[in-house]
Amino acid sequence: MNAKSNWNIPVQTASGHYAVHIGEGFLESTGELISTKTKLHGTCAIITDSKVEPLYAGTVRSSLEQAGFRPILQTIPSGERSKSLEVAESCADAMISGGLDRSSFVVALGGGVVGDLTGFVAGIYFRGIPFVQIPTTVVALVDSSVGGKTGVNAKGGKNLLGVFHQPTLVIADPNTLASLPEREFREGFAEIVKHAVIRDASMLDRITPGRRENLGPLIAENVAIKAAIVEADEREQTGERALLNFGHTIGHAIENAAGYGEWFHGEAVSLGMVAALRISRLFARLPQAEEERVVRLLARLGLPVDFRKAPPTGDLLQAMRSDKKFSEGAIRFVVTQKLGTAQLTSEVDALKIAEALESLR
Ligand SMILES: NC(=O)c1ccc[n+]([C@@H]2O[C@H](COP(=O)([O-])OP(=O)(O)OC[C@H]3O[C@@H](n4cnc5c(N)ncnc54)[C@H](O)[C@@H]3O)[C@@H](O)[C@H]2O)c1
Ligand SMILES: [Zn+2]
Repeated sequence: MNAKSNWNIPVQTASGHYAVHIGEGFLESTGELISTKTKLHGTCAIITDSKVEPLYAGTVRSSLEQAGFRPILQTIPSGERSKSLEVAESCADAMISGGLDRSSFVVALGGGVVGDLTGFVAGIYFRGIPFVQIPTTVVALVDSSVGGKTGVNAKGGKNLLGVFHQPTLVIADPNTLASLPEREFREGFAEIVKHAVIRDASMLDRITPGRRENLGPLIAENVAIKAAIVEADEREQTGERALLNFGHTIGHAIENAAGYGEWFHGEAVSLGMVAALRISRLFARLPQAEEERVVRLLARLGLPVDFRKAPPTGDLLQAMRSDKKFSEGAIRFVVTQKLGTAQLTSEVDALKIAEALESLR
């Protein structure tokens, strides 16, 4: 382990304190990290997906065994469809057959799908056992592995069934990104741009499109931003955590209106941010140059910025009305008046959204 490229970022929430350990090659030290940084011991389940398993499960499993843990391996099909009650149940059944009890723990090895599902299973198994996150996508490294939002999709919508369950430890190894397909790699940068817009405009200059090496510093910055927001508002009660929805109101509407799977989440969020920036310029006095600065960066990152490719405005407004983020019909929209800051506003109604979207077509 190279001391210069490791980070240890604490996350302190009302329901638990944990650390995010970031370092190249940490996957090989999984067992050692869990045994030295936590009190976990004994039997555990590694839950991973069909694409990640052949790449990294062997390394994680043997590291756990060497440290004296007794892991079972459960592999789910890769993809969003695995975030379901059926797959959660099959994992729980495998854990029961494997002899896991209330003193056991679970390891989530994969992207946001594996992390959300595994955290959910851990949260309800024997009314809650600990879990460790080992994120392997950009989205999971910079966003979903931190914060304790876990869950699965219901037939009626995404992420509707879940529990807050914070991980006991997060082991983040940037080397896992080397195997990520190009489109999956790119989409994760939408969440990084989002963090920059709402919290730290200077980060916009530290994002280097296309580069996969030495991403540790950027991952660490993003984890620190996410951690600070989660610490301030773990259960999304004060409005602070809701700022993480910048670009997501319209992003989710695009995913939904186009049919899930058509757009990757990060791609839809990129267009959602293009729209939120325009809304911010028209109705929250964001300077035009700041809007253009972010849109230019999204384009350089290979993310979609041309709103003419999005579904029709009427379909988007319809999809927005069924979004759980719309509290009782009133839209709590996230805008930025100045890059690096964000605010929730109830001033942005459907008419203003429609006007902004039309100005982008
Ligand atoms: N809990 C949260 O706070 C939070 C935040 C953001 C997103 N999410 C959720 O995360 C999910 C999206 O996560 P994602 O983008 O990581 O998707 P994902 O988990 O589906 O991973 C994307 C694809 O990459 C593959 N893969 C993963 N790691 C790989 C690697 N290292 N090399 C090669 N292939 C690899 C996967 O098998 C999958 O096909 C969504 O369900 C979203 O709702 C949750
Ligand atoms: Zn997102």
